[in-house]
Amino acid sequence: MNPIFIQPPQVAWASGALSEGPLLRKSTRIQDLAGIFVDEQARQKMPDDLIVYDVEMLATSPAEGELYTGVTHLYPGKIGHEYFMTRGHFHNRREQGEVYFGLRGSGLLLLQNEQGEARLERVFAGSVHIIPGFTAHRLINTGDDVLSALAVWPAVAGHDYAALANGFSLRVIEENQSVQVKEAKNG
Ligand code: PA5
Ligand code: NI
Repeated sequence: MNPIFIQPPQVAWASGALSEGPLLRKSTRIQDLAGIFVDEQARQKMPDDLIVYDVEMLATSPAEGELYTGVTHLYPGKIGHEYFMTRGHFHNRREQGEVYFGLRGSGLLLLQNEQGEARLERVFAGSVHIIPGFTAHRLINTGDDVLSALAVWPAVAGHDYAALANGFSLRVIEENQSVQVKEAKNG
């Protein structure tokens, strides 16, 4: 027998770069993040087209039971005193969980349940994050390098951004050159 060895997609662990598969890419820029950061005036003063994060994912089947795999590259930076972060979301299918793996850089994963109770996990190369169902999630880059994290989630999960219209209940800012966590006023 002459087996055919399939070449699978690859992730370069050090950089998070995906290859060898059909890929989808999406950039999220300053102009896409109105109302997400506490200092909206500071956001408006930044260049509209500056990329805050890129997501690269394998273009796999969206069918029930399938899994999506993607890497988020969250760049270092701040809007006012608040560190760059992803928009954050619940899954449309609330019961569906997700796993994040830290690849490079350093930051935090903000997790919040439907009662508004939040917690923060440190993200670093090698960290593993089990995000249960019914839990909103957001990455925050508190470091000076790109924060890259690999994620695997059910294809049927979907993203619900609207449910977080009041935001998360914690904000992560830089104060006196250190990382500070504050209760959000609106969240
Ligand atoms: O599925 C995920 O949770 C991630 O791939 C996120 O979608 C990614 O980090 C971008 O964040 P958001 O979808 O909140 O803009
Ligand atoms: Ni998700």
